Amino acid sequence: MLSVRCELEVWPERAAPPPDALARRLATADGLLCLLTDRVDAALLARAPRLRAISSVSVGLDHIDLAAATARAIPVGHTPGVLTETTADLAFALLLAASRRVVEADRFVRAGEWRVWEPDLLLGRDVHGATLGIVGLGAIGRAVARRARGFGMRVLAWSRTRRPLGDLEGAVAWSALPELLAAADFVSVHVPLAPETRGLLDARALAAMKPGAILVNTARGGIVDEAALAEALREGRLAGAGLDVFEREPLERESPLLGLPNVVLAPHIGSASVATRARMAELAAENLMAALDGKPMPACANPEVYR
Ligand code: DGY
Repeated sequence: MLSVRCELEVWPERAAPPPDALARRLATADGLLCLLTDRVDAALLARAPRLRAISSVSVGLDHIDLAAATARAIPVGHTPGVLTETTADLAFALLLAASRRVVEADRFVRAGEWRVWEPDLLLGRDVHGATLGIVGLGAIGRAVARRARGFGMRVLAWSRTRRPLGDLEGAVAWSALPELLAAADFVSVHVPLAPETRGLLDARALAAMKPGAILVNTARGGIVDEAALAEALREGRLAGAGLDVFEREPLERESPLLGLPNVVLAPHIGSASVATRARMAELAAENLMAALDGKPMPACANPEVYR
């Protein structure tokens, strides 16, 4: 889509461009199509005098200084909506895998350790009938709530802004965060990473979780204190976790999470289905081309630039 309309320079390497390499290429660029691994801050924008459009192949924009882009009247595109259901599927996959110890069971079988059927082999936690606490009832949180309803779970939700529940009326109960953490057997995180949510689930919040609960995070690593989480899992205060996102990505080889059998780890693949990644790429290209044509982006995170 882009190559028929633009002169493209494509970063050829697998690893993200170092900031200076990106800045050098942006010096003469009109548009930037980036990934969540590219840090677009005020310093970078200051070195991009021609830049008229930024489009990220992601819904989350914590890698982009939105205020700095807005100050330069640069629209920033993202991909809301198209990845909602796919990400909710992964949150549920992690919830089920952590509660029923699916990954541990797989390792057990492959290691040739399965010798006999035993009544207490790899016992997990029931999902049906359990209480799920959803931290952040936006589009993805709501999609997770609908799946939980199908599993016969009781659903509590906390959100900074309480929008009408709509089709989830009767299926979800609003809760204050401390009460949710104390009551939930499973906590699934769905707030975006912003200054107000960084460290939202800190050591104190994790200590307030119900003993034996399971934490699922498909949002952003910076929302959870990872060291405190690892400690709670190591001590068995929390029964498990399913994590797709981390404070530093890729997860460092020294991370204590790697040594914990009760954690299911994934490499930030929440939206990684064939159809959804194609739709994200398409929407990101549409956003970029619209802005370069002087039209509003179909999905713009700072629409105030058009006023
Ligand atoms: C996003 O889009 O922000 C996800 O983290 C990756 O799909």
